Amino acid sequence: MFMGEKKNLAVIGCGYWGKNYIRLLSQMADTNLVAICDRDKEALKANQTRILSSQSGPRLQLFTDYNDMLKMDNLDAVVICTSPDTHAPIAKAAIEAGKHILVEKPMTMSSDSAREVVEAATMKGLTLMVGHIFLYNSAVTKVKEYIEHGDLGQVYYMYAKRTNLGPIRKDVNALWDLAPHDISIFNHFMANTPEWVSATACSFLRDKTEDVGFITLGYPNKTLAHIHVSWADPHKEREVVVVGSEQRVVFNDVSQTEKVKIYHKGVTARKNYEDFGDFQMVIRDGEIVIPAFPMAEPLREQVQHFINCIDGFCESRSNGYDGLAVVRILEAIDRSVQSFGKPIYL
Ligand SMILES: NC(=O)c1ccc[n+]([C@@H]2O[C@H](COP(=O)([O-])OP(=O)(O)OC[C@H]3O[C@@H](n4cnc5c(N)ncnc54)[C@H](O)[C@@H]3O)[C@@H](O)[C@H]2O)c1
Repeated sequence: MFMGEKKNLAVIGCGYWGKNYIRLLSQMADTNLVAICDRDKEALKANQTRILSSQSGPRLQLFTDYNDMLKMDNLDAVVICTSPDTHAPIAKAAIEAGKHILVEKPMTMSSDSAREVVEAATMKGLTLMVGHIFLYNSAVTKVKEYIEHGDLGQVYYMYAKRTNLGPIRKDVNALWDLAPHDISIFNHFMANTPEWVSATACSFLRDKTEDVGFITLGYPNKTLAHIHVSWADPHKEREVVVVGSEQRVVFNDVSQTEKVKIYHKGVTARKNYEDFGDFQMVIRDGEIVIPAFPMAEPLREQVQHFINCIDGFCESRSNGYDGLAVVRILEAIDRSVQSFGKPIYL
């Protein structure tokens, strides 16, 4: 494989999300989709039919066992899009076979296994990227720019709502399924990880699998973040809000026309010297701006970034350490849920 050369990729896991990777990899200029793997033959066949009608290039090979697929000599990289409990063994096998990997979120189901995957990829000098898709979403990039340029002033707090009626997963609870998105967004905004977490959760739909969760994350400099996830709420919301001393920014992923809104309003406490050091609240009221920016398909951006990382053109925005950090936070959330919201320090 040479730098800048078309890469041969395969997808392991051809379910609901895997078919999006399959579509993109068979269409993109920098990639050849050379194989797909799923233990379910029906999932394989359905995707094969779809690709054969659109793909030119090398013949597509089908596998039900990823170990057989990883023996392919002409395979450069794999996308792992199976259920989360299988990510660690598949990632380790792919790295052992010398393949670069893009593994879906959550990277693994324990920080120990996430660390093993990171170490294995580092030892082999392979690219390991985690599918924290929102880091490849131009609306999130826009909000990050506002934070970095200081437009928001001091970031006081952030919150995210990710609610809907499902889609309900069997393999993980709603917190491990949905919260990785918001944790990765908040870690990205803060360029840091939380110092502590506190969480409560409940199972309404099934025993022992939490479908509703309320998570608080304490970042350095007293910045608070809150995440509400639910599979049991008839109102679909996909919203991330950042409140700063100068401005408030909203990323509404459900809106087609107003993805990002900036409220030029805020309140700051200023010392009032006439009142012997008492504080005066200064409220600024300004306009609401909806910025225009180009929106690309986030998954396509993510895959292109993966290819650029393999070529050594850039450092991954969501590397193995970022994936590990999110898994550590999810583990702490689990511990807090078990003790009814007790803060867990990381
Ligand atoms: N980034 C996002 O927005 C997003 C959205 C949905 C799902 N995901 C992630 O994608 C991954 C897959 O989710 P999904 O919704 O497609 O699940 P899914 O259950 O629809 O599909 C998973 C597929 O993997 C196959 N599989 C499982 N174990 C396997 C193994 N050992 N070998 C071969 N095939 C195996 C299953 O047969 C199934 O077809 C999960 O990690 C999920 O969190 C991400």
